[in-house]
Amino acid sequence: MADQASKLRSLRLVQGEAGDDNTASSGRPRVRTVAVTSGKGGVGKSALTTNLAIAMARAGKRVVLVDADLSLANVDLLLGMIPSANVGDIISGEKSIEDVLVDTPYGFKVLPAASGLERLANLDDFSRERLIRELSRIEESCDLLLFDTATGIGRQTMHFAGAADEILIVTTPEPTSFSDAYATLKVLLAGAHAAQATPSLVVNRVGSIEEARRTAKRIQTVAKRFLGVEPELLGHVPEDASVGSSVIKQEPLLSLFPQSPAAQALEVLTDRLLHAPQPHDPIGLEPDGVFRRLAG
Ligand SMILES: Nc1ncnc2c1ncn2[C@@H]1O[C@H](COP(=O)(O)OP(=O)(O)O)[C@@H](O)[C@H]1O
Ligand SMILES: [Mg+2]
Repeated sequence: MADQASKLRSLRLVQGEAGDDNTASSGRPRVRTVAVTSGKGGVGKSALTTNLAIAMARAGKRVVLVDADLSLANVDLLLGMIPSANVGDIISGEKSIEDVLVDTPYGFKVLPAASGLERLANLDDFSRERLIRELSRIEESCDLLLFDTATGIGRQTMHFAGAADEILIVTTPEPTSFSDAYATLKVLLAGAHAAQATPSLVVNRVGSIEEARRTAKRIQTVAKRFLGVEPELLGHVPEDASVGSSVIKQEPLLSLFPQSPAAQALEVLTDRLLHAPQPHDPIGLEPDGVFRRLAG
């Protein structure tokens, strides 16, 4: 499908120039894309993503956080920044990506959100080409693109998440949160924007590891039965008052309270993410047929 191809091209950041359409098999893309999403808002997606970006930057990765969450408490608020430009200015052609990328004091860069992102799914060819061209330029200066996606199963969210190499679905132990997480998983595995690999789960605001496992198990059981996949529990983050304090102080948790239980858990999560087999490796790939079946 032409639309699917251009979507992949735009978000997997153009493997090569024109005519070079199959470089994925000849080597790992220089950029790894990870989308963080959730079914329900307010589960800690932005707080987690921001701190993952810091932890990965500290691990020596060149990280760009793409803020695709347009809700309140978005990344620039969490970081206490007031960006002067955003991705909408790239789409409109007023700015280049270098003009829009913002350095943070935490060792990573942010591509600030814009209402323009809502238009991404409906870009005309000209705008799409412009965005692809601009995005492909950060490929050389970036190891990891982290997408903080909008909440819910909107088209825009699916567009971003579905095109990423890896997807993390954040949920809390609340039944409404994990049933929405399941709904998101289901949508992510189907349709034109089907995910590249089975999304993983991160359970936030847990009282114990058992609670995280129980929550994941409920999603896994239903997913296995109805979707034929079993999303892995990649990590969990405890309920921790330092998270709220860091949001209020507009300084990330890993910077403000590095020793807090939530910060420690995020370090573990980062470690797992960095050392997990990547979907580009044959070992990390789900059988292709599963997605074909689900998509079909
Ligand atoms: N592990 C946690 N412990 C305590 N509070 C948390 C935790 N994670 C998130 N929160 C609270 O939830 C609020 C919403 O988080 P946020 O990252 O903005 O959610 P989302 O991006 O999913 O909408 C934060 O302001 C914070 O106060
Ligand atoms: Mg958010």
